[in-house]
Formats: sequence, structure tokens, C-alpha cells
Amino acid sequence: MAIREIVPHTDNFIRKTSKPVKEFDEKLWQLLDDMHETLDAVVGSGLSAVQVGVLKRAFIININNMVMEFVNPEIIKTSGEQYKKEGCLSVKLPFDYVKRPFCVTVKAFDRYGNPFTFTCQDWTAVCICHENDHLNGILYIDKICVPPKWVKEQEEE
Ligand code: NI
Repeated sequence: MAIREIVPHTDNFIRKTSKPVKEFDEKLWQLLDDMHETLDAVVGSGLSAVQVGVLKRAFIININNMVMEFVNPEIIKTSGEQYKKEGCLSVKLPFDYVKRPFCVTVKAFDRYGNPFTFTCQDWTAVCICHENDHLNGILYIDKICVPPKWVKEQEEE
């Protein structure tokens, strides 16, 4: 395993569209293992392959030590809305509000090519949407918004 260098948002590479994974082989497993080690080292909620310089449609999340891998993910259902402050390991700018669905269902493959479906909500849904955007060259800074008044009122409670 190895810690890989994270591509900053100032590098145009981060804007490239990632390509579907075709081989669920040792090269993919090495990549995913390295991504876990990299994410552990920097401490974050998620990391996509493009962020370590590989244009493969794959990302990992680590939320309160719930670690998951998503290969060739596809968000198939969303509902509700939420506004949370997001940051990104590639973006050295302040966290800011982004509008996301509150609930997300994602279809993906594990590292061995087995398909699965995962439904989640709240912060996990935010992370899935954020990482999935990376695979299409989209960053949270493209989506910063002013949250409705009820969001700040809720946070102050
Ligand atoms: Ni990010």
C-alpha cells in the first residue's frame, strides 16, 4: 500500500471525466487500497480515484469508520433536500453550503465486480453525491449556494 498524492483543484486534471472500470483486477484493488491509506492519512469523509490521478469511476467513503467502496456507481434515486457545509481534500478553500438530496439510492459494484444497491441519507448521502460528482469533473465549489433561512435556524438550535 502507498499514500498517493492528492490532485489539487487548481490542476485541470480534476475536471476530467472518469471512465468506467472494466477489469476488477489486482490493479483496481491496489488503487482502492492506496485510496484507503491516503484517506486515513489526511482524514476526510471520502475520496475519488480522480483525486489521486486515476480516471476510473471509483470512490470510497469513510463515515464514522463505516468504510465503503463504490465502483462504477450510478445514483438511481434521490428524494428530499438538505444544505450542508462541504469541503474537499482537493480544494483548499473554506467549507460552504451545497444543496443535496436528503436521501440517495446508489447502484454500484464492489471491488470484485459484484453489484449492490445502497440507500442512505443525511451526511452519507452528501458524501455519495460529492464523490460521484468528482467522477464527472464537478466540484462542490461549482454548487455553492445560499441556504434557505430554516437551515441556519436549525443549526442554531
Ligand atoms: Ni471532494
